[in-house]
Formats: sequence, structure tokens, C-alpha cells
Amino acid sequence: MPLLNLKNQALALISQTVSGQELAQLRIAFLGRKGQLNQVFKKLDKVNYGRQFNETKQAIESALTERQTQLTGTTAEWFDLTAPGQLPPLGHLHPISQAIAEIQRIFEHLGFTRVRYPEVDWDHYVFEALNMPADHPARDEWETIFIDAPAHPKLGQMVLTTHTSNGQVREMERVKKPPIRMLNLGKCYRRQQDPTHTIMFHQFEGLVVDKGISIPHLKGTLDYFGRQWFGPKIKSRIRPFHFQFTEPSFEVDFTCTACNGRGCRFCKSGWVEVGGAGMVHPKVLSAGGIDPKKYSGFAFGWGVERVLRLKPGLNIDDIRLLYSTNQEFLNQF
Ligand code: PHE
Repeated sequence: MPLLNLKNQALALISQTVSGQELAQLRIAFLGRKGQLNQVFKKLDKVNYGRQFNETKQAIESALTERQTQLTGTTAEWFDLTAPGQLPPLGHLHPISQAIAEIQRIFEHLGFTRVRYPEVDWDHYVFEALNMPADHPARDEWETIFIDAPAHPKLGQMVLTTHTSNGQVREMERVKKPPIRMLNLGKCYRRQQDPTHTIMFHQFEGLVVDKGISIPHLKGTLDYFGRQWFGPKIKSRIRPFHFQFTEPSFEVDFTCTACNGRGCRFCKSGWVEVGGAGMVHPKVLSAGGIDPKKYSGFAFGWGVERVLRLKPGLNIDDIRLLYSTNQEFLNQF
């Protein structure tokens, strides 16, 4: 009976082995794909001998394992001491946290101090003091989420901050007397969701107030940031725009880093818009208790997600990925 013979032969040989290496050879000789067991099996009548075949196989397998334990005290078949170890997966800071740290570092080099102001704030700081009285149409720009809570008698309703500009008048009230060099970086909220907008996002707001501050100071600051963030070849331009709280107001563009400003599928014109800026409106200075006849200032407010997606080599098509749990995406940072 070929199966029985095979089994007896295997068990005898296994019991005589003296090393794991010999065992490994026997395993291949009997149980390998081209091993003896399979050779015998090919010739057998499968219907009648199927069960016996499995029993033989199991008997040889358990004899191999048992002998392995006797020889080495372990059931491990093979252990390579020289193989490199496996590192446990290490986490890292979220790409937005990394971007925030870098933005803060760039502006600290210019003497800006990072501050934080409430992310749930009064209408007064978010709109009213920024020259946007109640019912002013300019408010429509910000798709505001209101808090269902009693209004403050002077400061109005509570809102989720739609921009970090709420920090402007708060900072003026805190510092009282210029110079001011503020970087307000925090969360903002707008009722908007598409590939380039998330309901919650981050802005960084610069505010400089002192004697004799003018547009070239603004332009120089933006250029410095641009070179640090995008690289030495970057160029910026300011385009006339309108904000209620700055006069004049601008939108700031940088040369597209995908095509170096030549114009491509991504940017079309060679320029990409990064956000708003301008010279602080005299009414805003007054609202903050600062005399606009003595002092002037500039401000800018940009999205962290937006400048991140434009960083050379990133070109993130859909910023919603940043707030997903997509590990393949996040592990790249
Ligand atoms: N707060 C503006 C916005 O959210 C940006 C801005 C900030 C514009 C400061 C001018 C000055 O779009």
C-alpha cells in the first residue's frame, strides 16, 4: 500500500534527523510540490484514497513539527538573525500642522508675533468694526455660520469666524499703541464645500501698524514670504480689488510654480491667486482706538490650505483630502 509505505518511511527518517536543516530537506522531499507524496497521489484513485492521502500528509506534517520542537525547543521553522528588523509604523504631524509651523517661522523672521483670537467671535470683530455695518452687502462675501445664542447688547450676535480679520481690531485693543506686527493664525468657517473649499479651514492674517507704513512695505513682506514658501524664483503681483476694511485693497498673485509663470493647464495665465491684502482702512484703525492721522498699516489674510496646495511639487487637486483619513495621501507628507 504505497501511502502507508510512504508514511512509515517518512516517520522513520524524521525520527533520525539531528538538525533543523535536515528537517527542512525532508519537508521538501515529502511534502513539496514535486515531493514524493504528490508523486504517489498522481497515480492514485482520488475518490477512494482522498481521505487517506490527507491523513498521511497530516501525520508527516505533525511528525516534522514535533521533531523540530525536540531538536530546537521551538516550532519556528527558520529564524534569520541577520534579517533587518521591522520598524513599528511612526506617525507624523498632519500636513496642515507642518504648514502652520513653517508659516509661523517665516513671519517670525520678519518680527511678527503669532497670536490667537477666538474662533467663535462677536459680529462686532468679524464685521462691524471692519467697516461692514449690519445689512451691508459686502457681508455676502462671507457665507457666515451664526451661533444660536443670545446677542451681546453692544457686540451683536456670535458667529463662527469667517476670516482671521477679527484679530485686527482685537490686536489694536490689546496693544493700544503701535507698533503692531501681528500674525493671527487660526481656524475659519464658511458654508462652502467643493474641491478647493472645506467648511473649516485655516487662515493666517498679517497686520502691521506704525508710522509711515505704505504699500511697498506690504509688497516687500509678501515677496519675502513668497520666496521662503515657494522658492527663490517666485514673483508676486498685486491687483486692485475691494474689501471694506482696506483702502486700497488688492488681490495677491504669485507666478505659477508648475510652469514658472509661462502659463499652463493648471494656472492658464501664469499667475495663481493666493488671497487678499490692503492698507488698513482709517475707520478700522479708529475702531481699534488708533489715530489714523498718525498711523497707517497694511493687512493680508490668506488660506493655509490654499498656499499648501500651491507649493511646488504638491498641486493638491482636492483639499478635502487633507481632512480625510486617507492614509495613502497623508503618509506622503
Ligand atoms: N479677510 C479677507 C478674506 O477672508 C482677506 C483680507 C485680510 C483682505 C486682510 C485684506 C486684508 O478674504
